[in-house]
Amino acid sequence: MNNKLVAVVYGSLSDWEIMKNAVDILESFDIPYHTQVISAHRTPHLLYEFAQSCKNNGYEVVIAGAGGAAHLPGMLAALTSIPVLGVPIANNSLNGMDSLLSIAQMPAGIPVATLAIGKAGAKNAALLASAILANKYPNIDLKLNDYRQNQTNTVLSNLIPEVT
Ligand code: RP5
Repeated sequence: MNNKLVAVVYGSLSDWEIMKNAVDILESFDIPYHTQVISAHRTPHLLYEFAQSCKNNGYEVVIAGAGGAAHLPGMLAALTSIPVLGVPIANNSLNGMDSLLSIAQMPAGIPVATLAIGKAGAKNAALLASAILANKYPNIDLKLNDYRQNQTNTVLSNLIPEVT
């Protein structure tokens, strides 16, 4: 068991530019996390070992980013009952729609919580992971509420440009 609460995994180093957005939020909330490249296609045995040991390692949420025929989140969800949050990555001619549908369209029985394609999805995956953890960890609850309040304050303080 380690003290990391969230595992952030993704199918290729090429996904990191997007997945970094999730990690940035976890860091700003002081949530301990682990990151690792795990490919459902290229390292299937690693995927299996990782998923099998997720609970024993103490992870409470898994964020999984993948592009193309994005099997990683669904396969992880099949192998562990820890909540899996899927981030579709756009990296080919279909603009991420392939990843979105691959991750979202899980048949009934094995759910993957699917976020938006790309950067917004990565950020929201971290915020959703924080919301799940906030039920148990009051310090994370405080950080999440501060984040949301700051966001609200920023919008309310936006001045409408004067039309001249
Ligand atoms: C998927 O294949 C990865 O998640 C990545 O988004 C995509 C392409 O990987 P690379 O060819 O860039 O390594 O498994």
